[in-house]
This record gives sequence, C-alpha cells and structure tokens, in this order.
Amino acid sequence: MPTIEKDFRRSVVYQIYVKSFCDSNGDGLGDLPGITSKLDYLAHLGVDYLWLTPFYPSPQKDNGYDVSDYCAVDPRYGTMDDFDELVAAARERGIGIMLDMVLCHTSTEHEWFRRACSGEKRYQAYYILRDGRGSAGPGDPGEPPTNWECAFGGSAWEWEPRLGKWYLHMHDASQPDLDWTNPEVREACADVVRFWRERGVTGFRFDVINLISKPEVIEDVPGPGAACRSLVADGPHVHEYLRELVERSGIDGMITVGEMASTDLANCIRYTRPDDHELSMSFSFHHLKVDYAGGDKWALAEPDIPALREVLREWQEGMQAGGGWNALFWDNHDQPRAVTRFGGREGVGERGGSWDLVGKMLSTMSFLMKGTPYVFEGDELGMTNAGYDSIEKYDDVESKNAYSMLLGRGATQDEALRVVGERSRDNGRTPMQWTAGPGAGFTTGKPWLGVPANHEQVNAEAEVGVEGSMFEWYRSLIALRHTSDVVALGDVRFLDAGPAAPRVIAFERTLGEKRLVVACSFDDEPCELADLGADGMTVLLSNYDDDPIAGVLRPYEAVAWSR
Ligand code: GLC
Repeated sequence: MPTIEKDFRRSVVYQIYVKSFCDSNGDGLGDLPGITSKLDYLAHLGVDYLWLTPFYPSPQKDNGYDVSDYCAVDPRYGTMDDFDELVAAARERGIGIMLDMVLCHTSTEHEWFRRACSGEKRYQAYYILRDGRGSAGPGDPGEPPTNWECAFGGSAWEWEPRLGKWYLHMHDASQPDLDWTNPEVREACADVVRFWRERGVTGFRFDVINLISKPEVIEDVPGPGAACRSLVADGPHVHEYLRELVERSGIDGMITVGEMASTDLANCIRYTRPDDHELSMSFSFHHLKVDYAGGDKWALAEPDIPALREVLREWQEGMQAGGGWNALFWDNHDQPRAVTRFGGREGVGERGGSWDLVGKMLSTMSFLMKGTPYVFEGDELGMTNAGYDSIEKYDDVESKNAYSMLLGRGATQDEALRVVGERSRDNGRTPMQWTAGPGAGFTTGKPWLGVPANHEQVNAEAEVGVEGSMFEWYRSLIALRHTSDVVALGDVRFLDAGPAAPRVIAFERTLGEKRLVVACSFDDEPCELADLGADGMTVLLSNYDDDPIAGVLRPYEAVAWSR
C-alpha cells in the first residue's frame, strides 16, 4: 500500500459531514460505504485528506459530537470493516483519512459517565463535579455552582441525582466535560487516538481542544455567564496536555488540526509552531463573527468587511511572524454557507450571478492565503443555506434553543425563523447535492434533514466536467495549491486597496522572485482600486469571463496576478 506522507502546507483537506454525504442503504442517513462509493469523485476533485465528522456510537443529541464509545462505529454509519475498507480504498487513491476526536467531553451515555453515576469513585474523578450553591446538604441541589452558561444556551451545570452533584458541560447537558487534570483521563484519551492511528488513520481534527484545561478555581464570571467561554479557552495547562497527548499517542508529524474556540493569536502560534510539537494547524473563528450585531450570533447584521479584512490580516501576518500555521476555511458543519452569507443570493446555480461570483471569490481568498485550505462538502458545488420555511424543518439543538430564546426576547415567529434561517448550523448540514433527482441523489429513502430546493440546479451531475462551473473552479484551485510554490509556501502581506475600495481585501504572496497579487471584492458595486503594484503582471485567474479592467474591481470580482 502506498503511504500517505504529504506536506500539509501543500495539501487540501475535504470535510465530510458523514450523516449528510452519501447514503448507501436508503435509511436516509449518510454512511461509511456511501463515502467509499464517492472516492473517485473526491480523487477527481484532487483533495489530499478527508476529515470525517464523528461516526462513533452516540445518542445523537449533538449529531455525534456526544460520543458514547470512542473506539467503535455506530451501526447507523456502518461497521468497522466498512471503515477499514474506506481507509484502504482512499489510500489506493492517495487520499488520507483524518478523524474527529471529541475528547473535551463524552456523552452521558458513555461507559465512564454511567459508571460514575452508579457510584464508582474512579469514574467520578473523570468529570467535573460540584456541590450546589446554597445546598442544604446531600440530596438538595441548591443552585448551579456558578453562573456559567453553555454554548447552546442555559446553565453550564446539570444536576445529577445519582451523583448528588452538579456536573459541568460547556456544550449540551448530554455532553459532560472530562476532567483533564486527572492523569488517567489523559492516558485514556491518548489510547483512543492511538487506537485509530494503528487502524491506518493519517491525521486528526481535535474538537474544541482548547477548552480541556479549566481554570484552577471555578467561580462566577463577571457579567453574562456566556463569558465563561473565554475564561475556559486556552487554560493554564492546555499546551502541556496537548504535547503529552501527541507524544503518548505517537502522532507527532501527522497532519492535525485543533478547533480553537474563543482563542487568540498568541496561543494559536504556540499550538501550531513546529518546535512545540503540538498540532500542525488551528481553526479560529474571529473572521466568521463579522456579521454578529454586537457580538451576538442571533442578532443579524451585514458583514463588516473592513473588520473582516483586519481579522484576516492579523491572523495571516501574525501567524506567519510567530511561525504558526492557519487552517483556511469559510464553511463547516457549524456555520451557515458563506456563499449565501456574503451576498451570493442571485442566480443560484447559474453562471454570472452573485452566487457564482461570490462562491468563486471566497474560494480564491481561502486558497491563495497562507495556510491549509479546507473544503466543506458541497462548497465545491456552491451549495447554499437551507432556506427552510418552518422551524419544524430544523434538527439542530442549538437552532431550536435559539428559536425559543428569540421568541422569549419578544421576536415574532417570522422574525425568529428569519434569524435561524440565516444562522442555523443546519445550513451546513443539508444533504450533499449529487443530482437533480429526488433526495438529491443523496438517498433513495427519506433524507434525515430536508434537501434544499435548489438541488435541481446546484448539483454534482450538473457541474462535473462543465467548463466554468463551481466544481471546475475548485478543481483548478486545488491543482494550483499542489503546483505553485508561492501559493503553498510564500510570505503573505496585506495590501491597501485604497479609500474608494473599503469592501475589497487585497494581499500579496512572495517567494524569491515570484510574486502574486490577489484582490477580492465583497462589494455589489464596482469600485476604484488603488495601485497594488500589479502592473505588467499576468492575470493568473479571475472569476469574470472577460479581462479585468485596470484600476477597477467589479461586483464580487476576484483577480490574482502573478509574476
Ligand atoms: C464543536 C463541533 C460542534 C459541536 C461542539 C461540541 O464545535 O464542531 O459541532 O457541537 O464542538 O462538541
């Protein structure tokens, strides 16, 4: 078997949301054999690694991010043999498999939590348990120990009568956080990673891994309880625990990425600097909060492009200066589709409308910045937000909680639905659009989550091999990542697009004599561009059919010039 040893700086990762990718047995859920059946499609697209979201046994309270057994395959997604077959078939095509490790919390159905509840002290020490505030004694819950709020709304503490304690959950109440100060927990987590490495996995994505080290003292946060997130992020021992995990599980040198919630640049440099032997790269999310009014995800605002530019500049130039490495992405299973979010609402599925231009402009940015690009399933087709017309069509726990919260704040049902329609995580979880047929070719049964109506225009069958399609655009960007040294390795520096182009983001990449200048417009009007020093350079790519106009960027235009 050929081995998968690739330079992650030249690689492209494709994220598969297993539940929504391809259903091989008609039960309406994607599965592992479904992925294997699409490997030729993925090899044709040209990606190097597949990151698979969790397919382990789980009660599915948070779609598999509530794991009840880390070292098995949930029967709804297939068998361990199916998994081995997928790894081998991917390997034959030169594609590596990255698995999602959800080690910050387990499910309440995990054996460890069940044994804790049935009185085993050893497993009680796996979790973060506290007495209630103002409790009158054993059996009286009192109030939650602190004012902390979990990521999906409501208290971060749940009373468990069998324990006679409250347990901490930074996410859903079905996801109790593990106590990483316990060396046995750290050893058990390393065993999980080692188990999958030995099964032929070539890399890992670590779920909310910067939340594993809680503050020494767990106490109220000033102001709203949601602020506990920044208190818990990048905690006192996080770097030490990560290094230990990497060393014990033997994955140093493999491709790894950490999902970093509410993080900062200095920590991400440390997570990803090769000398620190932690991770290859990190996901940060500041660039995806530029349309949150007052920092609130559930309050709509137009994207603030100057703020977006500043965030990207800080992270691109900052990670470079510190020797860190960024994972580059717009979409994943927790985000609305960027093409809809940043203005691609016109002419969906056609050439030339804002849908086509924005999809190509955004991908140009993520592929030409410095870091490793991630394609989320369906990005390469230009898949859009779900467009559901009733709250019943949503599945996600966070979306449902948010809907109730918005009604509680006084929003009408229509208003609440509109906000959820823009922000729901289900926007990124709709079934993959393979064909214009029923179930979008994703399933012959009833899809677990509704298929967007536009699958009739936006689908793989309509795009693969069709000149000018979104799919072919992505294919050429992926190829460029593999062939161009300046794209993979060059230095990055942000450029000033000038006072008449506040909604343009421009940067250059340089390597020796090689120079690349990239300008991307988020504006729906033409704008005048300052001199970016691209005169005399050749147009390497552009998302318009005709030549760029000197000194002007048209609506949502993206141009890269090279020398
Ligand atoms: C990460 C996952 C998300 C999940 C959460 C809790 O943010 O991407 O889907 O809900 O962690 O595991």
